[in-house]
Amino acid sequence: MSPLLSSSGDFFGLDIGTTAIRLTQLSGSGGQKSLVKYAYVPVAGKTAMSDSKADQDKLAQLIKQLIGQANVTTKSVAAGIPSSRVFTTVADVDRLPPAELAKAIHFQADSLIPTPLAESKIDWALLGDSPADKAKQEILLTSVANKFVEDRLDMLEAIGLNVIAFEPDNLAIARSLAAPDNSAQLILDVGNHSTDLVVVFMGKPHLTRNIPTGTEAIVRAAAQNLNVDSKQAQDFVFKFGLSKDKLEGQVFQAISGTIDLLVTEIEKSIKFFQTRYQGPKIERIIVTGGASIIPEFPLYIANKFGLEVEIGNAWRNVTFSQDRQNELASLSNHFGVAVGLAERTP
Ligand SMILES: Nc1ncnc2c1ncn2[C@@H]1O[C@H](COP(=O)(O)OP(=O)(O)OP(=O)(O)O)[C@@H](O)[C@H]1O
Ligand SMILES: [Mg+2]
Repeated sequence: MSPLLSSSGDFFGLDIGTTAIRLTQLSGSGGQKSLVKYAYVPVAGKTAMSDSKADQDKLAQLIKQLIGQANVTTKSVAAGIPSSRVFTTVADVDRLPPAELAKAIHFQADSLIPTPLAESKIDWALLGDSPADKAKQEILLTSVANKFVEDRLDMLEAIGLNVIAFEPDNLAIARSLAAPDNSAQLILDVGNHSTDLVVVFMGKPHLTRNIPTGTEAIVRAAAQNLNVDSKQAQDFVFKFGLSKDKLEGQVFQAISGTIDLLVTEIEKSIKFFQTRYQGPKIERIIVTGGASIIPEFPLYIANKFGLEVEIGNAWRNVTFSQDRQNELASLSNHFGVAVGLAERTP
């Protein structure tokens, strides 16, 4: 695999989420691209989170089926990697010419990542001047276990795909959802299993966190505290949400403790960012993922931080025909990762 040396501009983005697999293909270049294909297929149970051969085979068959249904003709794919599998950190490095910089980072990486360098695939992006040390520049460094990437590569190649890139989900959503300006903005993707938090500044991700709390945990809290089954709990959560005047505030009472786990992490991340970067202030929070449409969730976050909170639009940089408008709007909070991967420069 050579992630940066693809000969073809034709490829699709593939998000292997815990509840669904989604693909998006775009065409054209520049800031606005046009929509060619989008499709999704639900994934049952824990299949997407399992590393067993049987489950990986199941996933591969689902992906194959999805590509067939959507009639995608290109074999080239940019695939997401769950952020929970990725270690990410910001580090200061010396100012060096590109070739020497790569070597220096590789050398330094061993002391920065939690796993042995020999068993890890590292990647990095230059962010700019270090705010901590004027003589240095800072990078966003990511590392993933070789084994995970190799297994995923085998799975995708086994169904005839050509992987042009792997990218962590959190970097993909930053591309699709961030407003195209230099402001500091916090993106929150509340998925089923976990939540991704990314602070984008000057158009680049400067801080990421993966929080092991998502829709599943919120629904579980509702089921336990309201003593109902999980189907009913899900209905309650998505119908009444954090509204204090629905059902006498019982759903609010049942789930706000779990939502506050996210609030605490947002608070810590904002503090961390504001301490490292003294100038820029986080101006807005953009929410996405299944839970972003829980009634009054955005309002709850807005009130906690006194910041503008908006529901992200995964299609903000994409053009499509008017008759797709309603369907795409309803899928928007599930498509941030797939669209962000499709928006990569191959
Ligand atoms: N209107 C709704 N009613 C009930 N549940 C909903 C609704 N909208 C979304 N969900 C729930 O949202 C979750 C899917 O969210 P999302 O698409 O963010 O998950 P994912 O990307 O598959 O998960 P992850 O990012 O953790 O891998 C599912 O648990 C689904 O049941
Ligand atoms: Mg997701």
